[in-house]
Amino acid sequence: MSTPETRPGTSRPPTAPLAGRRIRAAVIGTGAIGRGSHLPALARLAEEGETEVVAAVDIDATAVEEFCRAGGVPHPYTDLDRMLREQRPDLVTICTPPTLHREQTIAALRAGAWVWCEKPPVPTLADYDAVEAEEGKDGGPYASIVFQHRFGSGSRHVRRLLAEQAMGRPLVAHCQTTWYRDTAYYAVPWRGRWATEGGGPAMGHGIHQMDLLLDLLGPWSEVRAMAGRLVHDVETEDVSTALVRFENGAMATVVNSVLSPDEVSRIRIDCERATVELTHLYGHSNANWRITPAPDVTGDEAAAWQDFGADVPSSHLEQLRELVASMRAGERPRSSGADGRTSLELIAAIYKAAFTDTTVKAGEIGPGDPFHTAMHGGAPGWAPAAAEVSA
Ligand SMILES: NC(=O)c1ccc[n+]([C@@H]2O[C@H](COP(=O)([O-])OP(=O)(O)OC[C@H]3O[C@@H](n4cnc5c(N)ncnc54)[C@H](O)[C@@H]3O)[C@@H](O)[C@H]2O)c1
Repeated sequence: MSTPETRPGTSRPPTAPLAGRRIRAAVIGTGAIGRGSHLPALARLAEEGETEVVAAVDIDATAVEEFCRAGGVPHPYTDLDRMLREQRPDLVTICTPPTLHREQTIAALRAGAWVWCEKPPVPTLADYDAVEAEEGKDGGPYASIVFQHRFGSGSRHVRRLLAEQAMGRPLVAHCQTTWYRDTAYYAVPWRGRWATEGGGPAMGHGIHQMDLLLDLLGPWSEVRAMAGRLVHDVETEDVSTALVRFENGAMATVVNSVLSPDEVSRIRIDCERATVELTHLYGHSNANWRITPAPDVTGDEAAAWQDFGADVPSSHLEQLRELVASMRAGERPRSSGADGRTSLELIAAIYKAAFTDTTVKAGEIGPGDPFHTAMHGGAPGWAPAAAEVSA
């Protein structure tokens, strides 16, 4: 029989009530994104009385000590398990390379902490399922993924217009992550390899834009795709293009490239009565969105579409603010569970469609499918030689 100290099937300690106190947070991985985005977002919420950063962890002792000194964080650690045991944080934010996300998220969940893990969530759908199985069943702890482009006033406004079909049905969409990365970028040994980077631009760069497209348009139903290695000497692709049909009937073209000198991140959705366009690079504010009504749409209605409200740029802070509110309410946060899995599912489908020259239907990549356990799916010419499976 389970006791009040344990949850059925786990050794997870009970989550201490959060009412009336600050959320105790710990940052794992004190590199670029930990320093540049997680610590500032946590610090801002600390000013608002919501959080306190009690510890940080990095295998690089100098890096974690410097991070703690600069951020006023009391406890630096080089060992995650020891930190979890000694500090018992309520929230762990994970800012390490993607191959570590699965084991570190599971360790934090088992210690009773909620998790906010950087993208890409984990290397494969099977890894994602393993993480999901460790979440609490009612009231958490839950693991959510950093997809900050979903948050802020622009995406909130457009998501609502689309959900209400205010501009009519969505029909045609473009989703573009056309960035530029040079040879020096790929000279770093872990880049361009399935085992260490998890994939090419579909996984590492385009995931944010595809995640936002899915957040706006809802579930997809089928995918056809091509992938290429046109410039770089890499194991993964350096460009992919895909055709995606959505359940609501809309048809999208998705391009993920690191070969594009004029860099842009772009989403365009043509609805029956207006075109919505987002043009930016690494983050957006209201000014990055444009709504162009069809010629026969005039008056107050079209004017109302232009009202995005007070400008709240997309940011780690905006997502974290919502996550903290979900923690206090004991509710599953956005970008967790099935809602956090959507872009990984689309990426697996793009790779499968491209490498096997087939149309991939939503939901078909499950246990037993080679693309469930490896994004390269063992495909000849794409998988590392030892992992190739016969076609
Ligand atoms: N959301 C975004 O827009 C965004 C932007 C950049 C990076 N990221 C993601 O953030 C993650 C980290 O990227 P980064 O650019 O900060 O990398 P980074 O290399 O600058 O930092 C990673 C840190 O993790 C530490 N580390 C490695 N192994 C560890 C372990 N076992 N335990 C604890 N710490 C360990 C390293 O020492 C390093 O300090 C990646 O998943 C990346 O894709 C997201």
